[in-house]
Amino acid sequence: MDTLASPSETQKTCLSAKQSSRTIGLVPTMGYLHEGHLALVRRARAENDLVVVSIFVNPTQFGPAEDLERYPRDLVRDLALLTEENVDVVFTPDVSGMYPEQPATFVEVPGVSEVLCGASRPGHFRGVASVVTKLFNIVQPDRSYFGQKDYQQTIVIRKMVRDLNIPVQIIICPTVRESDGLAMSSRNSLLGPHDRVKASQLILALKKGEAALLNGERDPLRVAGAIRGLLAETREIFVDYIEVVDAEDLKKKSGISDKDRVLLALAVRIGGVRLIDNLVVNVSS
Ligand code: PAJ
Repeated sequence: MDTLASPSETQKTCLSAKQSSRTIGLVPTMGYLHEGHLALVRRARAENDLVVVSIFVNPTQFGPAEDLERYPRDLVRDLALLTEENVDVVFTPDVSGMYPEQPATFVEVPGVSEVLCGASRPGHFRGVASVVTKLFNIVQPDRSYFGQKDYQQTIVIRKMVRDLNIPVQIIICPTVRESDGLAMSSRNSLLGPHDRVKASQLILALKKGEAALLNGERDPLRVAGAIRGLLAETREIFVDYIEVVDAEDLKKKSGISDKDRVLLALAVRIGGVRLIDNLVVNVSS
């Protein structure tokens, strides 16, 4: 496994793989890897000749008051895990390598970026779309792998790839969960033991919303109310948002029809840690 910090060296390695007709799969990450990340890596390994994993805690997607400094990191452990998965190249740039000068060029995907997480994290998806574009230009992957856990991110990236004709196939992998249903996240490690127990309510609340939909509830506000009601039973889960929106374009719905694919999405704070989760429900099922 090659560990490369230099964008130009990584680009050279990837270009020469392409020239010998090897397919490239890219898994972009911010490190502190868990089984959710590794599921993407395994899928990439199964589908490509060369697997590249990037590890970069991208400052431009964190707001000034967010947890950039506190974001967990453990490169030694990450590299050991990726060696086990037979990854070919780990791209580990530092901030000055990715941003040698103040960037003036950004990728914005309005429409799907200001809602849900974008409402309380202004600029977040501009940072994500811009850094993912840079990663695509450096690695030039045939396929790139993203998790459903960050559902809005997948919608932003897919729209960006379509709008800009970026020659990459975006593959979305299901959310990997702990045994009690909590979606795996690097940020879970920041939860104290009591807060970790509270966090297991998130999936139960989403399932409550799903059950309401499947039992015939067609008013999005009442579905959101069912989710909110379950979360309210646990003290000190602070809700950022609970949204019931169209799963394709993230638009609010006035009513739900039997053929809809609906996204149930939430963000909360527990013990100062921001957690997100979602479920996609095919209403007809
Ligand atoms: P990060 O949070 O490290 O996540 C990297 C990838 O792993 C994302 O596609 C995310 O959706 C996926 N992932 C995280 N937890 C998962 C889980 N429990 N199940 C399945 N997939 C999961 O998302 C980012 O980094 C950054 O925004 C990035 C795309 C790297 C741009 O900086």
